Amino acid sequence: MPSYEIAVIPGDGIGPEVICEALKSLNALAPRFGFTVDLRSYPFGAEYYLKHKEVLPKGGLEDLGTAKALLLGAVGDPRVPPGPVEQELLLALRFHFDQYVNIRPSRTWPNAPIPVAVPEGAEIDVLVVRENTEDFYMNLGASGDGGHLKATLPVRRGLYSGEAKIELSLDPPSEAAFTLGVLTSPGTGRAAERAFSLAEERGERLLYSATKSNALPHIYGFWDRTVAEAAKSHPAVKLKNINVDNLAYQLVRAPQHFGVVLCPNLFGDIISDLAAGITGGLGLAASANIGDGLSMFEPVHGSAPDIAGTGKANPLAAILSVSLMLDHLGEREAAEALNAAVETYLSKSPRVSLPYELDGGAPCPKVGDLVVRAIEGHL
Ligand code: NAD
Ligand code: IPM
Ligand code: MN
Repeated sequence: MPSYEIAVIPGDGIGPEVICEALKSLNALAPRFGFTVDLRSYPFGAEYYLKHKEVLPKGGLEDLGTAKALLLGAVGDPRVPPGPVEQELLLALRFHFDQYVNIRPSRTWPNAPIPVAVPEGAEIDVLVVRENTEDFYMNLGASGDGGHLKATLPVRRGLYSGEAKIELSLDPPSEAAFTLGVLTSPGTGRAAERAFSLAEERGERLLYSATKSNALPHIYGFWDRTVAEAAKSHPAVKLKNINVDNLAYQLVRAPQHFGVVLCPNLFGDIISDLAAGITGGLGLAASANIGDGLSMFEPVHGSAPDIAGTGKANPLAAILSVSLMLDHLGEREAAEALNAAVETYLSKSPRVSLPYELDGGAPCPKVGDLVVRAIEGHL
């Protein structure tokens, strides 16, 4: 019987609440589909940082790396200034394990009200494929005053290591800051390859690449050329470049026209929240950070401090992230059964048993229990 060691970082805010429900589903599926899971929970996040004055212990990443997959809730806490926990935990995981592509599906679900109009019978089914280790997320930058900024920055992310030397002189002198966006052809190319393969699997005729080469031709012109090169080996799928501002507009106006949407890292972050917003909400948006080593599965949403502890968190994004994880582990039937259970739960439940986010009245643990009942065939 296959056995999977799964590292779990519940994290902050609603993170532990939604992960608790996701694990209920995972534990219910394992015996039914003939595998076992060995869960290793890690206390990392804001609480750990406040207590230990460090985000991760020495060797923490290496230890996590021995697991088969990582399930993460969310990190970030108003008691900690924005930055350290997100940078040194979440982003550090993506970079350390070279999780080069972030797959973020958003689709319409039964009984999940949507804020946009789609034609009768049409559905929204958008798959955002986000490049995950380059662009502005390399975080090469500096801030300072005096009109003269000089920085030699270590590049230690994604595929590359090296140095970036940047000098900025302003006249008249003023406080200033900059961040350098960096793309490389292997970095963009492998994300594009993955997006084209996913488009082929889904039988898409088109693949949209969200760009902004009209304003930023160095970085995004390079993106366009690299994606066009990848397109040559996928003749069944036609590449369409779209300016990301227009994409944001069209996703609201005519979302049914979009399938696979490939985005550079920063645009992908924003467009995936937008895609969640026009479907069931962030509480239904799952994601998979895929690399050749440890891959990480997490909801698209954050720690939602505004609703943490109220029971209003929707755990379905975390539950659907377990489905993406099972698929990645090769447990395809279990993954599909979990999607089907979410579908059954949403379609068969009276409004009062749906998550608050979907105008229902079911607290987070009740949603988790009802999905388990659907897995068991009792709904
Ligand atoms: P957020 O995603 O936490 O919340 C945005 C809005 O969506 C809030 O109104 C929240 O209540 C709602 N929401 C989010 N998830 C929900 C769910 N499951 N059910 C119902 N409603 C939900 O974004 P934010 O407020 O910008 O960020 C809060 C913190 O989370 C910050 O510290 C941020 O850095 C961090 N963050 C972490 C991750 C991550 O760990 N992957 C992702 C995004 C943001
Ligand atoms: C996400 C988040 C992260 C990102 C933050 C918390 C650093 O918004 O996973 O979408 O920008 O990638
Ligand atoms: Mn985000």
